[in-house]
Amino acid sequence: MHDKIYPVSDDWAKSAQIDEPTYRAMYQRSVEDPDGFWAEQAKRIDWITPFTKVKNTSFAPDNVSIKWFEDGALNVSANCVDRHLAKRAEQVAILWEGDNPTESRSITYRELSEQVNVFANVLKEMGAKKGDRITIYMPMIPETAFAMLACTRIGAVHSVVFGGFSPDSLAGRIEDCGSKLVITADEGLRAGKKIPLKANVDAALAKLGGDVKTLVVQRTFADIPMQNGRDVFYNDLAKTVSQHCEPEAMNAEDPLFILYTSGSTGKPKGVLHTTGGYLVYASLTHSKVFDYRDGDIYWCTADVGWVTGHSYIVYGPLSNGATTLMFEGVPSYPTNSRFWEVIDKHKVNIFYTAPTAIRALMQAGDEPVKKTSRASLRLLGSVGEPINPEAWEWYHRVVGDDRCPIVDTWWQTETGGILITPLPGAIAQKPGSATLPFFGVQPAIVDGEGKVLEGVAEGNLIITDSWPGQMRTVYGDHDRFVQTYFSTYKNAYFTGDGCRRDADGYYWITGRVDDVLNVSGHRMGTAEVESALVAHEHVSEAAVVGYPHDIKGQGIYAYVTLMAAVEPTDALRKELVAWVRMEIGPIASPDLIQFAPGLPKTRSGKIMRRILRKIAEGEFGNLGDTSTLADPAVVDDLVANRQNKR
Ligand code: WTA
Repeated sequence: MHDKIYPVSDDWAKSAQIDEPTYRAMYQRSVEDPDGFWAEQAKRIDWITPFTKVKNTSFAPDNVSIKWFEDGALNVSANCVDRHLAKRAEQVAILWEGDNPTESRSITYRELSEQVNVFANVLKEMGAKKGDRITIYMPMIPETAFAMLACTRIGAVHSVVFGGFSPDSLAGRIEDCGSKLVITADEGLRAGKKIPLKANVDAALAKLGGDVKTLVVQRTFADIPMQNGRDVFYNDLAKTVSQHCEPEAMNAEDPLFILYTSGSTGKPKGVLHTTGGYLVYASLTHSKVFDYRDGDIYWCTADVGWVTGHSYIVYGPLSNGATTLMFEGVPSYPTNSRFWEVIDKHKVNIFYTAPTAIRALMQAGDEPVKKTSRASLRLLGSVGEPINPEAWEWYHRVVGDDRCPIVDTWWQTETGGILITPLPGAIAQKPGSATLPFFGVQPAIVDGEGKVLEGVAEGNLIITDSWPGQMRTVYGDHDRFVQTYFSTYKNAYFTGDGCRRDADGYYWITGRVDDVLNVSGHRMGTAEVESALVAHEHVSEAAVVGYPHDIKGQGIYAYVTLMAAVEPTDALRKELVAWVRMEIGPIASPDLIQFAPGLPKTRSGKIMRRILRKIAEGEFGNLGDTSTLADPAVVDDLVANRQNKR
């Protein structure tokens, strides 16, 4: 336990939107009178039809139902674009920094409005209408934000698929939500390398058949094959459509987007977020957690393919009329100074990144940071996985020059926005703790039996009441939603995370307690990697666990049993890694593969992952009870042949 405390400076307490007494009072009100609190907060959004009802939610296992502002109507793109035109038409909305340091673009709110209107009309021209699902498989370019906002303008539901996913993963996601249109780009560009996005879409569609069309934005202007009648260049159509598209009035509970995420079992789930509650929550959290002030340059380094990109590159900042920086590249290209150089180039005030990036850059030493100024920085943020205190301290001391508070924000794809975080002008920070709940969020810690633990405690983290940004269902499978999140503990949302609460009431997230891995801040189900491995002709069985990894947080350790008569060679190991990359995508590459003649199973055939985890972690002395195994001898072989951590 690390008990160093970083108090709020006087300057921050005075200048921030919310100081400690205000936080305490607002928090109290938010949980005692959620209707009153959220009715007031929802005024930050422009409603086409004002709501008369605020909260209507139930976590009861036989009736999980979540509705916020249910009789209100609004349009997200009108909130993120149109309403800013009167005051800030010439202010930069999206500041784009290319992969290549010589490339950048500034898009003002006026230009954003023009682009989104035209993009929306192009979507209509392609036959898209309200309620349709549209898949977006794009690189980190402004057109991706235009596409998302255009969907919201016409009431179509977007499903953004991270550009690093394979054709197979993409095909599964297109099929699951029944998209008839995929928006993509010719190629992406990262660290100087081209990513064949359109070719991946072609491969995905070849698996699906049917009548899916594509709309292709040109990023590199590569010469790519276009299928007549199916594929259309965005630029060709954009020239032909009207400049104005009236925003569709959407009910607060109409679907806004689907985002696929990994769980402990089965295929990725389509997390469904709706319109009103999500936008209110993304907007409010972005404003208060980052203490966003008019004119600030705000940079979140996530990819829009993840929820962090949705809420804190696009919807939160743009609904607040902010300048949001969008970065196409990676932290180490062309050099390890890139992040800090971008901060100096664009005078970034607020910087939000992931612990895995901080750890990687920390390994490169202080010099690449210290040669830059970073004088514009005021606030730092962290998201995606627990941040180890050493990385926190380095971020604070070296990147922030001991001057910038750090908001360690805990949340999930399912939560829509940040749930546990310090507010920078209100809450003293402790390195490694996400600290205290945001307004309206009621966390609790439970033991294995579901008993709520009071005071200092460690157990599983649940949330006992709804907040506006909460997911509403799993697309097309409400039973799975109820089963996954509301069946483990009665009348509560189960987060899947372990958590500790200290004597100051601070929350310390300890990581996933289910079979979900967090590799470089990316969620990965062990079941997904296993099913990719067993799809290989030489593999008979596979079990995947996580192990501590210095940079990635968790690495992927795969135990693989080969078919009879197949030789376990290094070449095959490499082939299997390449296979998983092809099946799922590079983020799922196993770090270590151990060939195992047998896996530890109970007599009823259940794999004992606890033992596999211990071996992967190198904790042989502590394997626990192995007497229930069908064949205890397999454990000796596993221990003897454990792969070394890289
Ligand atoms: C983990 C990302 C500790 C956690 C926004 C959660 C964190 C999962 C933090 C969700 C944090 C995210 N401290 N752990 N500040 N932020 N996590 O859906 O295990 O990609 O359940 O959402 O990341 O990952 P997801």
